[in-house]
Amino acid sequence: LEYVLTKKDFKGKKILVTAGPTQEAIDPVRFITNHSSGKMGYAIAKAGSNRGGEVVLITGPTYLQPPRRVKVVKVKSAVEMKEAVFKEFQEAEIIIKAAAVADYRPACIADQKIKKDDSNLKIEMVRNPDILAELGRQKGNRILVGFAAETQDIIKNARDKLVKKGLDMIIANDLTVEGSGFGTDTNIVQIITANGEIKKYEKMGKIKLAHIILDKIFCLLS
Ligand code: CTP
Ligand code: CA
Repeated sequence: LEYVLTKKDFKGKKILVTAGPTQEAIDPVRFITNHSSGKMGYAIAKAGSNRGGEVVLITGPTYLQPPRRVKVVKVKSAVEMKEAVFKEFQEAEIIIKAAAVADYRPACIADQKIKKDDSNLKIEMVRNPDILAELGRQKGNRILVGFAAETQDIIKNARDKLVKKGLDMIIANDLTVEGSGFGTDTNIVQIITANGEIKKYEKMGKIKLAHIILDKIFCLLS
């Protein structure tokens, strides 16, 4: 019913969304990850598809039901997510990177389960590729939207990311306040656009926020 009732302002538009955490393997049974639930990215994918968009959702491991009418590509690590994103991105007019990509991965994955031989264990970590920054370098006319998860200097840090990664818009999330960020059904955000506009929003549901983000993208399209 929601699908029938929603205006189809994104009809025919190809939207690429990433969601969820990534998992970075340590050995065959262990990994490093973060608290991302995937809810924000899934909400955007669902809203975009209800508004007539052709949505591809590239998702790290989550417990969520994939939205209907959306092409879902499941990945685990940041490197896999990057490959999947670059396979799909040529076609996309709009790219929204809600995924919480792990910044580091273990330098090597042990072939066998690591045994507790030593009294301490050091895992060497190496930097993962920054998918969004790479997209920024290759974006062309596409609209590129990122998220910024911050615990301090929210606006400054988010604006730096917008500039550095060549984004059209960034949604800054204050992780220190209750009702925002990982795992919640709500978010408290400020949206910064490339023209310098900053708008602060009250706490709201992730589906409602998804529609606000799409409204803003719609304005950038026309
Ligand atoms: N991102 C990405 N690839 C990475 C890390 C982040 O594509 N390896 C994207 C996220 O999907 C998000 C944006 O970049 O849309 C910002 O992520 P965030 O973690 O807030 O910023 P970082 O650039 O990773 O900087 P830092 O974690 O040091 O604050
Ligand atoms: Ca990061």
